[in-house]
Order: sequence, then structure tokens, then C-alpha cells
Amino acid sequence: MKEAMAIIERIRQVNETHQHLELAVEPWLAEIKPGQSLLARTTTTWDPYLREQWYPVAATKALLTIERPLTTVVSPGQVVNLLGIVGKPYRFRKTLRNVLLLAYNTEPTPLIMMIDMLLKNRVSVTLVLLGDAANYGTTHLPPEVEILKGDHEMNWANRVTTIGWADQVFAVVPQADEPGHFRRLYEMFTQLRADIPQGHLWGIFRPPLPCGIGACSSCLVRVKGEHLAACTQGPAFDLAAVMG
Ligand code: FES
Repeated sequence: MKEAMAIIERIRQVNETHQHLELAVEPWLAEIKPGQSLLARTTTTWDPYLREQWYPVAATKALLTIERPLTTVVSPGQVVNLLGIVGKPYRFRKTLRNVLLLAYNTEPTPLIMMIDMLLKNRVSVTLVLLGDAANYGTTHLPPEVEILKGDHEMNWANRVTTIGWADQVFAVVPQADEPGHFRRLYEMFTQLRADIPQGHLWGIFRPPLPCGIGACSSCLVRVKGEHLAACTQGPAFDLAAVMG
């Protein structure tokens, strides 16, 4: 884990709820991959004590774009203290044609960075926004992404077809009860698919990360009877292994 200072070069509101912060960063930070994140401190004090977990939505050689809610108070020129890089990149199947991204009652931010990469590799992408996630405006996303919206009961139009057609699925749910929400999601998939192959349905776990290096045991997720740290082995875990 390394520490870096980054300058917020530009801030752009992208929809009614979120903004994109463009950070000038050192080249090693721009190596970040979809699934990985940073621990950020925007204040010069220890309040709040825990750093915010920031997921990038784009990275170029010297510029990192971070998506944050509009409630994050920042300004251009501000210096941010970053720790990283946290976690492992998402793992994709070798043969991949259709990917389903699913956000339930939370913003889809941890899912966004993979979209460009998938589209460049001619993989089609569907983003399903369920419940409160449907309030997330999507006009800033590439037009090739199919956007579907659904309700708090995890219903959406053509649900059976969407689920059957996906080669791989990545999902985010509210941090408050990830095990409960992921279990509901997993049960829904088991009812609608004949089988859920290994590495098919991934839950993105986002517990609070006090250390980010696997030292404090605060972020453990039970996978096949083993406890794995979300900060070093996650954030994505195969839900078939978590629920099994
Ligand atoms: S945050 Fe400390 S072990 Fe993961």
C-alpha cells in the first residue's frame, strides 16, 4: 500500500446525484483496474476517522476520474491524500459475449469502470438499476450500454431473458446488509437459471476498510468456509462460493 497526494483538476456534475472528480495522479495510480479502489482523505484532520473508499470510473496515464455523490464536498485545486491500490481486479471469463451489471438500491459506481473495457472488447453490456438505483441518471454512459430499470422487489422487464443470456454478472447492493441482499439476489438467480456456474455471479462487497491491507480483520467475507479479507481478496466474490 502506497500513499500519494493528488490534485483535483476538474469537477463535473454528471447527473442529479453524482459528480466526477478528475485527479492528476502519479503514473502508478493510473494503473488501477476495474474492481480496485483507493482510500481517500479529503480533510487535513482525522475527522472522519475512516477514509472514504473511492472507485475510479476511468483512468488515463496521468488522470484518474472518480465518481462521488454530490454530497462529497470538494473543490478544484484541492489536494487529496490517497492510499492504494486496494483489492483485486474483477476476473472475467475468457469467452465473454454478454455481461450483466446489476445495482440494487445503491449507485452502480463500482461497476462503471469496466464498461469501456468490455465495449472495446466487443462484449455487450446491460446495466440493470433496481429500486433506489433507478434514480441514477445514465446519460453520461456510452449509448451502447443497454439500461433497464426495475423495482425494489428485483423485478424488471424480460428478467428471465436478461438473466439467461448473461455470461457473467456483477452486482452491488447497499453496504448496510450485503449478506442479506446478496442472498436474496442469489436465490432469485437460482430460481430463474437452471444452474449457476462457478465464476458466473459476483457480488461486490464493500465493508468499511480501516486498514485496507488485510491486517485488522474488519472486512472478512466467508467463502467456502474460509474467511477472506475483502480489502485484499475482494471486492468481488463468487456468490455461489459465498452462499454454498
Ligand atoms: S480493512 Fe483491515 S483487513 Fe481489510
